[in-house]
Amino acid sequence: MHQINNLTQINLSKGLAPTEEPARQYHYIKAARAYIQELSAQKGAPLTFHVSTFGCQMNARDSEKLTGILEEIGYQKTDTEEADFVLYNTCTVRENANNKVYGRLGYLNGFQKKNPFMMIGLCGCMMQEPAVVEKIKQSYRFVNLIFGTHNIYKFAELLCTALEATFGSNAKKMGRSMIIDIWQDTDKIVEELPVERKYAFKSGVNIMFGCDNFCSYCIVPYVRGRERSRKPEDILQEVRTLAADGVVEVMLLGQNVNSYGKNLKEPYTFARLLQEVANIDGIERVRFMTSHPKDLSDELIAVMAKSEKICRHLHLPLQSGSTRLLKVMNRKYTKEQYLSLVEKVRAAIPDIAITTDIIVGFPGETEEDFNETMNVVCKVGFDSAFTFLYSKRTGTPAASMEGQIPEETAKARFDRLLRKVQEIASKKAMQYEGTVQKVLVEHINEMDEKLVTGRMGNNSIVHFPGTADMIGKILDVYLKECKGFYYIGEAR
Ligand code: 5AD
Ligand code: SF4
Repeated sequence: MHQINNLTQINLSKGLAPTEEPARQYHYIKAARAYIQELSAQKGAPLTFHVSTFGCQMNARDSEKLTGILEEIGYQKTDTEEADFVLYNTCTVRENANNKVYGRLGYLNGFQKKNPFMMIGLCGCMMQEPAVVEKIKQSYRFVNLIFGTHNIYKFAELLCTALEATFGSNAKKMGRSMIIDIWQDTDKIVEELPVERKYAFKSGVNIMFGCDNFCSYCIVPYVRGRERSRKPEDILQEVRTLAADGVVEVMLLGQNVNSYGKNLKEPYTFARLLQEVANIDGIERVRFMTSHPKDLSDELIAVMAKSEKICRHLHLPLQSGSTRLLKVMNRKYTKEQYLSLVEKVRAAIPDIAITTDIIVGFPGETEEDFNETMNVVCKVGFDSAFTFLYSKRTGTPAASMEGQIPEETAKARFDRLLRKVQEIASKKAMQYEGTVQKVLVEHINEMDEKLVTGRMGNNSIVHFPGTADMIGKILDVYLKECKGFYYIGEAR
């Protein structure tokens, strides 16, 4: 096995670190860069990294930030988990996401045993749960670094500490230690750190963090903290910079974008922000995610209806069609209010695609409750829907509610719902067959390199014959054939 010498520049990071951000993180980036250079020289090859992302768009965006910092430090990106630093950005919205991480940690340990340069890091929502961190401390001692969702901006500093704890002189004397830094909450938003972009032509943009809604099944408010909005001028500046850099599509991200700006010193509405973003030269398409039905304003509908640049797509989580269950879920709307909201949106924007999230098997869900959900699904006719089996999350009110639903009952309902959702979605998709639509080309098709793959404004996927030079362009495409969830097209 390759013997690693102590880092000679150990403790380089200590001492002169500025206290203010982001200067402090740039100091640590520089220190970590020196460590990585030294380790790469010992290895005789550049050190590599891999970030694996679980869960939602927020995590995907956080991973871009983490990747940006790793690249700045001098690690080289690789596609495999056989890397010198593997970071899992975890999700804990449902139990199966957690299990996946534990399963894969064992397999990572196999790589680490063969590669003395390898460090393993864990971050994201799952790490905000004390029981998870305890389990990792007990059973996965080989993990080098754990941090949560509130201190991502401190990644360079944490990584520096982990490099010292793994390869420094103390690590030699006393053994490697696991660096754990979890914060329970923070209001701090640090701007202007390095960030990598997965695509040159589109980007997610965080507009807010956290959630204050406390839906009774959901762990997000506990692991992502209280709702806080970025300042509009910071967001608009970021979008202008992206546009100047060739980005044509931005997706504004928040757990509940409709309550954007309410807690700012000078309150600001999401509708206004959306309009301002759409006004930026070079931006051709604006998307956003996610909208809570209780907060969707008439002002927002009006802004969407007016602007060609705002995509004809609204993700509007229903969760349940039963007013009784919605109340227990703490969703703050009724079945009727949801239906009339959909009607209002469609009246103003007839070609809008409406998609949703639905949970099946919530505690106490009766056959009647479930039928109410099926009824709303049929009435609305969603363009697509993410359906989830209820998953019990420790610490949420629903976890201790009576009437937990047996798995077979929930699964049978889930299958019924999924069939209905798919039947409706493919019927809806058929209506665009034979039309010409604007498609933003995203990449070469993975299965057939003579095809390119892109998305319509309503988020539908289209494959059509094309070449790499089309990537990042918005083209007119004739939709020759609808295949249920995607189209086969032809550029016009
Ligand atoms: N069980 C199942 N699904 C859940 N979601 C959130 N929490 C749970 C849970 N405990 C779903 C909701 C949400 C989506 C992101 O995940 O439908 O909108
Ligand atoms: Fe969870 Fe509800 Fe917040 Fe969405 S709005 S993140 S479901 S608590």
